[in-house]
Amino acid sequence: MASQVLVAANRGPLSYALAADGTLGARRGGGGLVSGLSAALAEQPDTLWICAALGEADREAVRRGLSEPGVRMLEIDGTVYDDAYNGIANSVLWFLHHGLYEVPRAPVFDAEFRRQWDSYRTYNRTFAQALAAEAADGAAVLIQDYHLSLAPGMLRELRPDLRIAHFTHTPWATPEYLRMLPSDVREELLRGMLGADRLGFHTAAWAAAFTECAQAVESARRPEVAVYPLGVDADELRALAHRPEVNDRLASLRAEVGDCRTIVRVDRTELSKNIVRGLLAYRELLAGRPEWRGRVVHLASAYPSRQDLAVYRTYTAAVAELAEEINAEFGTADWQPVHVSVKDDFVRSLAAYRLADVALVNPVRDGMNLVAKEIPVVSEAGCALVLSTGAGAYDELRRDALTVNPYDVSETAEALHQALSMPPEERTERTKRLATAATALPPAAWFTAQLTDLRGS
Ligand code: G6P
Repeated sequence: MASQVLVAANRGPLSYALAADGTLGARRGGGGLVSGLSAALAEQPDTLWICAALGEADREAVRRGLSEPGVRMLEIDGTVYDDAYNGIANSVLWFLHHGLYEVPRAPVFDAEFRRQWDSYRTYNRTFAQALAAEAADGAAVLIQDYHLSLAPGMLRELRPDLRIAHFTHTPWATPEYLRMLPSDVREELLRGMLGADRLGFHTAAWAAAFTECAQAVESARRPEVAVYPLGVDADELRALAHRPEVNDRLASLRAEVGDCRTIVRVDRTELSKNIVRGLLAYRELLAGRPEWRGRVVHLASAYPSRQDLAVYRTYTAAVAELAEEINAEFGTADWQPVHVSVKDDFVRSLAAYRLADVALVNPVRDGMNLVAKEIPVVSEAGCALVLSTGAGAYDELRRDALTVNPYDVSETAEALHQALSMPPEERTERTKRLATAATALPPAAWFTAQLTDLRGS
């Protein structure tokens, strides 16, 4: 049966892993897109979520006819997928939108890039065709993120009757950064986006960056550009954080931490999250403010992400190495300064949220950063939030956070000191206001607002 509401995203709510005995197990993937969309669609049961098979196990699941209700996984040729996802989406578009290039070496736009760009087109066309085939007359289609920048324009050509929205979960590149792309590719990218009826972003800054970039495209359609800052659902999150397994984990974390104060961070091990500078700031805190030695523990969850890419593997190793260095430099027989967890362990993250005295969220640039919104909602004694000016969440949370320039390690160290020293009443008051701001637009309302605007426009 054709669907009235469809979403399209590279990542689906679940992805499969092949066990040694040949069985396929499903698990939820990380990142803000999946947490936001899954929570939103739990209240929109008739929506069809079209996603890509992410690897061999997912492709095998498609072949075996395994699927979740409301999900259609597209089997895409392995090489095309790898070029589109690793080559273009994560090595070019992600880097442009987050400003991550070390420009003396990268980017390099050569024949190999052109080949991968062609795969990115094929990947986007596969989504556009699947959406065109599944959508009812006049249906609403909400396309997600930088993996699918060309799909809106392609879908409009196939199905001009549809209402098409695109939402960007990342920042949008500055015009100077986007101008690094070969000009025909840049124009194709922007025209793909401009094929939508509406374009959504997490913050006014990212929306403005897009509008500025799009001005360079002549005689194009001009979709409505709007801001929908994704927030968290307090009741849902608190219920998750108080399940028995989280209570158990909290007890064991408490035993690990003892009487120490806690600085908590939870991220994908991701270049834009700035985990290395976060650790450098913690080291500077311990060096410059010796009174904290033995009295604070840094709980850092840095779970694996995009490990097919060498830069991510190197970064992951650098995080582990620096944590070890700090432990070797300052640790004592009964005090380990940094506890790094490299597993994707949501239960541990929730337990750490509850225990957090200080939350450290210092990305160089980030679409929103839901962790900055989740910790104040869940922390038990109230937490002081150290927040980068580069996070999308900065817009809504800056008044009650201690804000830092993400490149300024010394400023971050000083903010950590202030956060640890904040009087309990002030911390409680700030946390309440942070939690209110964080829950202003929970996922279901975030999605409904976009759907209503799309249908009404
Ligand atoms: C960010 C992106 C999402 C992506 C997530 C996890 O939040 O905006 O589109 O799903 O990171 O990254 P991954 O590459 O594992 O899907």
